[in-house]
Amino acid sequence: MRIAIPKGRLQDKTLALFAAAGYDVPTNDDLRTRKLVFARGGIEWIFVKDCDVPVYVEHGAADAGVAGLDQILEHECGAYQPVEMPFGNCRMMLIAAPGAPPLTKIATKYPRITHQYLDSHTLRAEIVPLGGSVELAAVLNLTSHVIDLVETGETVRVHKLELQDLVAEISPRLIVGKSIYRTEPKRIRELIARIEEAKNASTQSQVA
Ligand code: PRP
Repeated sequence: MRIAIPKGRLQDKTLALFAAAGYDVPTNDDLRTRKLVFARGGIEWIFVKDCDVPVYVEHGAADAGVAGLDQILEHECGAYQPVEMPFGNCRMMLIAAPGAPPLTKIATKYPRITHQYLDSHTLRAEIVPLGGSVELAAVLNLTSHVIDLVETGETVRVHKLELQDLVAEISPRLIVGKSIYRTEPKRIRELIARIEEAKNASTQSQVA
């Protein structure tokens, strides 16, 4: 079985959850080797960019993975989403500088979601795709608005930007490709059950 781990800010919490579920996950020493594939505990762990996890799972190059709903939606990934992760909740928001003109040009890492948002609000605007630091587009007037993730709200606050609308509530999920249910149904059901159990244990320890 091959599992795709997101290399970005979800990586450490994702590995900790798999470890809590009893899986022999790659160590920090492993990761320092810069290798991207590790065989441990009968599982092949692959490390890919957050945005690529749904792509690997959708195409069957990984059997399961952890991906944010933002990337799942942006890639129209049809994988199952059996477990919502107990970390990494955030909101996708429409953001603008104070006193910004009406929405005419919008920057984002999520052109597909942005297109759908504009359509559903019968708005027309030029979409400017960016790779990151998206808030800067509104600060520098590259665009009138941006659509991006807000987690703590710090990036929006320090740049004195305004939140204008909620686009979507976002959480990371365990995603599972369709073919593994046919080829290794017992093993994938066990994985889902163990992750669910580790999630519940971590949620209870946060409450206690
Ligand atoms: C994300 C997101 C925002 C920021 C929000 O970017 O795109 O820029 O975090 O977090 P906050 O509300 O806690 O400030 P990330 O740092 O993942 O990298 P990026 O700018 O390259 O997309």
